[in-house]
Amino acid sequence: MPELEVQPTGLLYEGKAKSVYTTADQNELLVVYRDDMTAFNGGKHDIIANKGHLNARACKLFMTMLEEAGVATHFIRMVSETSMLVRKLHMIPLEIIVRNIAAGSLIVRYPFVEGQPLEPPTVTFDYKSDERGDPMIIPEFILALGIATAEELTLMRKTALQINTILKAFFDQSGIMLVDFKLEFGRSNGAIYLGDEISMDSMRLWDKETHESFDKDVYRLGKGDVIHAYTTLLDRILPLERRSS
Ligand code: C5P
Repeated sequence: MPELEVQPTGLLYEGKAKSVYTTADQNELLVVYRDDMTAFNGGKHDIIANKGHLNARACKLFMTMLEEAGVATHFIRMVSETSMLVRKLHMIPLEIIVRNIAAGSLIVRYPFVEGQPLEPPTVTFDYKSDERGDPMIIPEFILALGIATAEELTLMRKTALQINTILKAFFDQSGIMLVDFKLEFGRSNGAIYLGDEISMDSMRLWDKETHESFDKDVYRLGKGDVIHAYTTLLDRILPLERRSS
């Protein structure tokens, strides 16, 4: 790892695409975005140069935008092009999925047609467990398992919809549809924060006119050059960054 202004003190967790390090401050972690790209629960894996940098850049943009809109996120600041300092959270093992348009697992599992609008947008929960294949989980099971309280579920659902409104409006300015995305939340000092990442790896983004993908589906489905897709997306949205802040 290059010499960083914040020095990692130990490796806390090695994820599929990010490494999380402890720092001298026990309340802060260093998240390093690697160039690993995986899909299908690790079944497909490649190292793709520059991918970590592009996702870190995108995540910084979205986290900053959400903070400014009043959403509590774990993001503190960038440390390098591929690493960021974040608040340490106790992660809740749920993936909160917001969908505006039917795609992905939804059209495999249910008789939706790809591209069909979902009005109103849906919010569902997946139980985060690689060995169980991240199954969709109903609120009653979440409560019965003690994964989150009813109040926390209500807050996560409300925040997910608020984030959807903000991001949808942002992408709309550059002719991009926010099809769906995944969020993860965690606890710190009794409060709930948005954690993990928001990036092209965790969203579906389509050109409004052509439905061209600018997200991980390019890699998952072998639809072309994923770095070209991610770079094209950033080229379209980064000029809007200052206007939105
Ligand atoms: O696969 P599925 O259609 O359920 O994914 C919905 C959204 O959640 C997609 O944008 C996908 O990229 C994201 N997702 C994710 N991590 C997962 C599962 C889904 O970022 N483990």
